[in-house]
Amino acid sequence: MRCLTERVLVIGLGLIGGSLASALRTRGICRTVIGYDRDKDELETGLRLGIVDEAAADLLAAAAQADVIVLAVPVKAIETVLAEILPVLRTETILTDVGSVKGNVVRSAIRLFGCVPNRFIPGHPIAGSEKSGVAAADATLFEHHKVIITPLPQSDSDAVTLIARMWQAVGAQVLQMDVERHDEVLAATSHLPHLLAFSLVDTLAQEQDCNDIFRYAAGGFRDFTRVAASDPTMWHDIGLANKQAILQKIDEFTAGVGRLRKAIETEDSVAMLGIFTRAKAAREHFSKILSGSAYTQNNMMTKDTTFYAQPGGQVQGTIRAPGDKSISHRSIMLGSLADGVTEITGFLEGEDSLATLQAFRDMGVVIEGPHQGAVKIYGVGMNGLRQPPGPIYVGNSGTTIRLMSGLLAGQSFDSELSGDASLSKRPMERVAKPLRLMGAQVETGENGCPPVKIKGGQALKAISYEMPMASAQVKSCVMLAGLYAEGETTVIEPAPTRDHTERMLRGFGYPVDVDGNKVSLAGGGSLKATKIDVPADISSSTFFMVAAAICPGSDITLEHVGINPTRIGVINILRAMGSNLELLNEREVGGEPVADIRIRYAPLTGIKIPEDQVPLAIDEFPALFIAAVCAEGETVLTGAEELRVKESDRIQAMVDGLKILGADIEGTPDGAIIRGSKMGGGVIESHDDHRIAMSFTIASLRATGNIEIRECANVATSFPNFIELAQHVGIRVRKEEK
Ligand code: S3P
Repeated sequence: MRCLTERVLVIGLGLIGGSLASALRTRGICRTVIGYDRDKDELETGLRLGIVDEAAADLLAAAAQADVIVLAVPVKAIETVLAEILPVLRTETILTDVGSVKGNVVRSAIRLFGCVPNRFIPGHPIAGSEKSGVAAADATLFEHHKVIITPLPQSDSDAVTLIARMWQAVGAQVLQMDVERHDEVLAATSHLPHLLAFSLVDTLAQEQDCNDIFRYAAGGFRDFTRVAASDPTMWHDIGLANKQAILQKIDEFTAGVGRLRKAIETEDSVAMLGIFTRAKAAREHFSKILSGSAYTQNNMMTKDTTFYAQPGGQVQGTIRAPGDKSISHRSIMLGSLADGVTEITGFLEGEDSLATLQAFRDMGVVIEGPHQGAVKIYGVGMNGLRQPPGPIYVGNSGTTIRLMSGLLAGQSFDSELSGDASLSKRPMERVAKPLRLMGAQVETGENGCPPVKIKGGQALKAISYEMPMASAQVKSCVMLAGLYAEGETTVIEPAPTRDHTERMLRGFGYPVDVDGNKVSLAGGGSLKATKIDVPADISSSTFFMVAAAICPGSDITLEHVGINPTRIGVINILRAMGSNLELLNEREVGGEPVADIRIRYAPLTGIKIPEDQVPLAIDEFPALFIAAVCAEGETVLTGAEELRVKESDRIQAMVDGLKILGADIEGTPDGAIIRGSKMGGGVIESHDDHRIAMSFTIASLRATGNIEIRECANVATSFPNFIELAQHVGIRVRKEEK
């Protein structure tokens, strides 16, 4: 490690000061670490344990020579120490502190210096333990922990950089915040839970039979109150130093406990379950919580997932792919708006449908589960949604953002929908335009992409809308807005697209009229809760259908697959290419046709894909491109320009990837020309697109070299157990996450 600076003086060798000193020293981050502590024994111990290079006997002499001074004393003592060293401070010395409250530190500096010196950079490492004292110092304490620095407008940028580098060098992740925000956030996330733990133990300890209570205290008590063993003086000081923000949080907490008390008193099960299910979801996602906004922010994009597929193998067996994504989304939306309790089985527990589920929780709907595909929704009725606490973050999910735009256009409150990097590049004007024609106020971001901002309280009027593209998402968006519009809303589609919204609305007792390519509904009705059995997703099943179709010796059965006529383009296309595909045990489940699909290897031949099949197989083309490479002759796809605006530009992503593997393929503006050819190995970019990642995984069955597929985290959006199922049927793939 290159030295960042010469002499660092750590004033206060407690757990934090001692750990920082030790980390600086062991990692060689500065030339000399000098320690100072009022308590001479602590200082001696620090020197003896090798935590500091030098123990300063004279604070002022040490401060005068230091290049960086870290004030690691309790928050209340910071002002006294600052006052003491003030006369000897050189202008070039950089000052920082580690106090868990920043407002009072800044006020102390202003009292003493008249303003906050531009080389004083307040800081706060979010690390610690219930232990205290230099003997507990741990050079690894800050590794993978956050450190918040709160520079002021006048702060010297070199000083800010040096303090940030110092913390990064001891393994911490450095964040910047302004002083007030820091104190507010810490009041909620640290100060309140500590003070509550102290208060709970104190309250219980005052009970007559407290010994009994403590003797029989279970894990819950121990977990909840662990932090009540922290240093009382420190928490006394923090309580006073961050008084206003803490009082505000105590009041909010008290109001929350009041609501829970009332729910228990009145035996209001929905209210109780609401509190518990929301809290459970928030706790489970708690690293993803965005303070002050909707509960979760999907941070899956930060995960670096790579698939490594080895060539060869064949697929055998009987499997069931996870639940249909389109139906899962709609089950949450319609169940939430229904009167009564909707029970769902087979729900897809993928990131996309979970984003929809979370959005409705954020709007006050009580939702139990999902637990092994079971979800129970306590519908709030057409007008029962509440304004979410912040922007609704929908991750990678196009269906969520587009369908919810329509639904939110009809609400009384304002809302905002945002998504991850890939979704933020996708077109939203296609839904904003018809919604504006209905009288909605909808704004999209740069280039018509997310975020989508919707102004509530608009009276919507019905329209008749001729869609410029074949899109079930646009159709569904307009229909959902139509539920809130005055009059009869009609959508006319240029070609049939998936009709789950129509079918499911009817399943919830809402009349929908379908006449050829026109779908109409009248606004102002209501939905009745129902039971929904979500079939396996034909789009997810496709990867295994194609796997068996391309690989000699393969024989696979996919159970309980939804074969809605608006989704079976893949079956029609594979059959036209000569594949041996049987539909077994055909039946109807909750208004959707379902079958088991058996597919055995048979040689494939290239075809000209009929354009009327394109919308019916729109999500299946990445996998069908692989089938086409494995077919004899030429396959031509036209009329599929929509593929360019999916989770990635799927034409480009497949053309680029297949060329890397050596296949004979050419992209065209609205499709591709693919000639039967051999595939070798290579490194493929999936562009964070789940279906691209899964398609190249099955390509390995016919490839002659290893295929490494990058950016595969988003496979979890639609098919969380893809790798496990792929391995189970015989595909030689493994996944690595960093
Ligand atoms: C979907 C419609 C399709 C599809 C998407 C899901 C739906 O999108 O690609 O995966 O659930 O309505 P488009 O409407 O953009 O074609």
